Amino acid sequence: MPATAQPAACHADAARHLRAAVVSHEQVAEATWRIRLDCPSIAAAAVPGQFAMLRIPDRHDPLLARPLAVYDTFAADGVPRFVDFIYLVHGRFTKALVGVRPGDSLTLWGPLGNGFRPAAANHLLIVAGGIGQTALLALAREGLGQARYGTRDRSAARVGRVTFCWGARHAGMFAAVEDFRAAGCDVHLATLDGSAGTRGTVIDLLDERFASAEPGVGTAVACCGPEPMMAAVSRWAAARSLHCDVSLETPMACGVGICFTCVARIRDAGGEWDYRRTCVEGPVFNARDVVW
Ligand SMILES: Cc1cc2nc3c(=O)[nH]c(=O)nc-3n(C[C@H](O)[C@H](O)[C@H](O)COP(=O)(O)OP(=O)(O)OC[C@H]3O[C@@H](n4cnc5c(N)ncnc54)[C@H](O)[C@@H]3O)c2cc1C
Ligand code: FES
Repeated sequence: MPATAQPAACHADAARHLRAAVVSHEQVAEATWRIRLDCPSIAAAAVPGQFAMLRIPDRHDPLLARPLAVYDTFAADGVPRFVDFIYLVHGRFTKALVGVRPGDSLTLWGPLGNGFRPAAANHLLIVAGGIGQTALLALAREGLGQARYGTRDRSAARVGRVTFCWGARHAGMFAAVEDFRAAGCDVHLATLDGSAGTRGTVIDLLDERFASAEPGVGTAVACCGPEPMMAAVSRWAAARSLHCDVSLETPMACGVGICFTCVARIRDAGGEWDYRRTCVEGPVFNARDVVW
């Protein structure tokens, strides 16, 4: 069974604005930071591939919240409590976020979106470009039996092994790669300048990695990164008849289905496409349904 997207959850609770204290905030790679929030309700409910909308309280620039993927969740004394996000310093929000200190608080709402279904494949191939790894760690940890996420209703399907292929501009951009190794993933890197791993794109890495032995029918692919990279991974998987899920990173404003800022063109069963809201009907879609 592939790691397909699960149905959209009800967002009534998830739309409630929360205030969460910053527990820790540290730089983990070039222009990349990891922030831990004390937020038990999101820690208890989030499943791999879901996200939250975040704002810095009492700041009106930027006015709109920004989506960040739930990277991982942690318990204290056996009770879900902390939520980690990893972000790339990019524009107005993330530049301001760098200035937030432990003890400050953030406004957020979530968990949002459909997230990945529990992966149940012999081999899960997760593929990230740039900061796209943030949507994939929890999926790998869950599949390898390292962690459980969400409510008890979520089945804990297992995968035999996880291969992680990650492409970035240069070696300094890889943030917390040790998390994937600690989870038990077989990690392979590619950089455009050759400073780590294969020189080239993540597609060059996939071609190299599977040159002598194709990944095989028991493989499911899950992917997140810049849109052209996801389109290329989608074609790579389709050429091998592999199921591929992608987590789209369309810009968002509300995160809960109201504003239609986040639409993507998604095909239905009849092959016709229509606009779908990435925040509630995604961000995870079957790659073959996305009109790139
Ligand atoms: C579901 C989801 C999960 C995400 N998870 C993460 C994460 O874990 N870590 C992380 O670093 N980022 C993540 N992002 C991306 C992040 O939300 C955006 O990069 C956000 O715009 C950053 O806010 P900013 O104010 O710093 O930059 P902005 O000022 O919003 O953006 C600066 C520039 O980038 C452009 N831009 C913004 N968003 C996008 C986009 N999605 N695609 C293409 N161009 C864009 C804008 O047009 C603008 O020119 C996620 C996005 C989505 C939808
Ligand atoms: S971000 Fe508002 S509808 Fe999706």
